[in-house]
Amino acid sequence: MNNQSGIAIIGCGYWGINYVRVFNELSQTQVVAACDQNPERLQEVGRRFPGVALTTDVAEVLSRDDIDAVVVATPATTHYEVAHACLTAGKHVLVEKPITIKAANAKDLVNLAEAKGLTLMVGHVFLYNAGVRKVKDCLNQDEGTRVYYLYSRRTNLGPIRHDVNALWDLAPHDVSIFNYLLDSTPSWVSAIGSKVLRNHREDVGFISLGYQDSVVGHIHVSWADPNKVREVVVVSNDMRIVFDDVKNIEQVRIFEKGIASEEIEAPSYGEFRFRIHDGDIISPRIEASEPLKSQCLHFIECFTQNKHPLTDGQSGLEVVQVMEAIDRSLAQNGAPVQVR
Ligand SMILES: NC(=O)c1ccc[n+]([C@@H]2O[C@H](COP(=O)([O-])OP(=O)(O)OC[C@H]3O[C@@H](n4cnc5c(N)ncnc54)[C@H](O)[C@@H]3O)[C@@H](O)[C@H]2O)c1
Repeated sequence: MNNQSGIAIIGCGYWGINYVRVFNELSQTQVVAACDQNPERLQEVGRRFPGVALTTDVAEVLSRDDIDAVVVATPATTHYEVAHACLTAGKHVLVEKPITIKAANAKDLVNLAEAKGLTLMVGHVFLYNAGVRKVKDCLNQDEGTRVYYLYSRRTNLGPIRHDVNALWDLAPHDVSIFNYLLDSTPSWVSAIGSKVLRNHREDVGFISLGYQDSVVGHIHVSWADPNKVREVVVVSNDMRIVFDDVKNIEQVRIFEKGIASEEIEAPSYGEFRFRIHDGDIISPRIEASEPLKSQCLHFIECFTQNKHPLTDGQSGLEVVQVMEAIDRSLAQNGAPVQVR
C-alpha cells in the first residue's frame, strides 16, 4: 500500500523547483504534479524529475484527488489568489513568504484554513535554519539574559523582482527572525527607502522596529549592493551573537561580553554604575541540515498528524502587518507608525 502523501508545486521558478527536489527526495511524499504558467519552467522540471505530471493550469492540479497538499511558490502578488483556490479545493497549503501582500487577505486565508480544518503554513525558512535555532537557544539559556537590540543586513546584487520592492522581497525574512527570537511582534516601525536603480520600486531599505521593553531592531535590505551579506546580530546584557548565513563554518559566534547597569545603593539612589562582563568567544556546533528540507518535513508532520505549524498563517499575517506599516512609514519619509 502506498502511504505517501501526494504533493503538487505551483510556481516552479528559481525557488519553487527546490521544493520539487526536496519533496521528491523524501520518502513520505510523492510529487504528483508541477504547475507553472511558463512552459519552459515545466520542461526543466520534466527533465530533472521524470514522472511528475506537468501543467500550466492550476485548476487541473486542484481537481486531482491524489494531491493532499500544495506548495505555492509563485510571485508574492499572486499568493492570495492561488492559496485561496488551493484551500477552497480542500488542499493543505505551504505558501512562500510573504503569505500575501495585504493583511486582510492573509486573515482571510487563516480563517478559510481554520474553517476547513486544513494546514496553512508559510515558508519562513529561516525559522527552520539550525543556526537561527541555535541563536534562540542561547537567548533562552539564562533567565538573566536581556536583549538590548538586534540588527540584520540582507544585501546582494539582485535578484530584482518585478512585482514587489526590495523591502517586501527581503525584509519578511528578518521580521520573521526577529519576531521568533523575541517571541513578540513590533508595535511601531519607521522605514526609509530609495529607488537607486530608477525603477518603480525601492531597491534599498532601512527599517527600524520597536518591540516591547524598549528592544529595538534594525533591518537593512538591498538588491543593489555588490556585497552579499546575510547577517543577524543580537546584542544583550551578557553576550553578542552573530548569525552569518553566508559562512560555511562558524555560522554562529557568541561573544560572551556585555555591559549592564546596576543601581548604586543608598545614599545615591537613582544613580547607576556600569558593569562590564567579559568571557569567551564560542562557535557552537551546528548540525548540518538543509533548512528547506526541515521546513518541508515540518509541513508533512503538521498536515499528516494534525499538528500546528511553527510558521502558521497567523505568524505570516503578523509579518504582513509589519510590512504594511513599513509601506505607510515609507510614504511619510520614515515617520514612525503604529503596526496595527
Ligand atoms: N524562502 C526563501 O528563501 C525564498 C527564496 C526565493 C524566493 N522565495 C519566494 O518564492 C516565491 C517565488 O520566487 P522565485 O524566486 O522562485 O520567483 P520566479 O519568478 O523565479 O518563479 C515564479 C514562477 O511562478 C510562475 N507563476 C507565476 N504566476 C503563476 C500562476 N498563477 N500559476 C502558476 N505559475 C505561476 C512563473 O511562471 C515563475 O516560473 C516568491 O514568493 C519569493 O518571495 C523565497
